Amino acid sequence: MEFNDLVYLRHSVREFSDKPVPEDTLKQIITIAGRSPSWENSQPWKAYIATGLTLNKIKETWNEYTLKKIKGNPDMKTQHRVEFSQQSQENMAQFNEQLIKWTKDPELSEFIKGQGNLFKASAVVYLTLPKNASQWSVYDLGSFGQTLQLAAKNLGVDSIPAYAYVMYPDVIRKYMMSIKDDEMLSVGIGLGYATEHILNSFQTERLPIARYLTIYR
Ligand SMILES: Cc1cc2nc3c(=O)[nH]c(=O)nc-3n(C[C@H](O)[C@H](O)[C@H](O)COP(=O)(O)O)c2cc1C
Repeated sequence: MEFNDLVYLRHSVREFSDKPVPEDTLKQIITIAGRSPSWENSQPWKAYIATGLTLNKIKETWNEYTLKKIKGNPDMKTQHRVEFSQQSQENMAQFNEQLIKWTKDPELSEFIKGQGNLFKASAVVYLTLPKNASQWSVYDLGSFGQTLQLAAKNLGVDSIPAYAYVMYPDVIRKYMMSIKDDEMLSVGIGLGYATEHILNSFQTERLPIARYLTIYR
């Protein structure tokens, strides 16, 4: 696929079909993501993939916790909305408004339900860094995640990166016991094949570059 098409076609999918992603494809995606740049080629990331029974067990607990509205306690601390920049606060507000308009669902109930089901992903890649990682390693992990999602799309696999996947890290550690306490469960990326759900045809916008680009000559 043409690179620009790939970039524009990738978007977050919030309901996956039950078709599994073959393990060879998962390995191919991770191999390509592994080509991402990192500080002095430190490659600080680790990737753990949950599929099948392991993922089902995580999904069960996730459903229960989200129904009970148990507060998330992610390893990577979240920031309150008002602590974001003005620019980001405006974009987040617009994201919510547009999503409500698109789904005609002021409560965003389907959106919320989807998170409880891990968006029905057939595989979830959990990305970790050492707990004492520097901000540079967080940068490296971001580039790993983006390369992963583009590699997936190029192989016909849809994705979503989500905080919602790592909000209960103890549950993930319970079922994926090789994830150590000194690792920071940073983000999860759901993989699978998109259904026709209305959430999956939602298109996000981007700021025009004039809003954030400065060129000095
Ligand atoms: C670090 C990170 C965390 C995210 N967490 C969630 C999440 O918990 N739930 C969700 O529905 N989307 C989540 N997203 C997806 C974003 O909402 C999405 O990337 C953004 O709106 C842009 O849309 P697009 O991915 O379709 O281009 C997350 C994205 C990133 C990069």
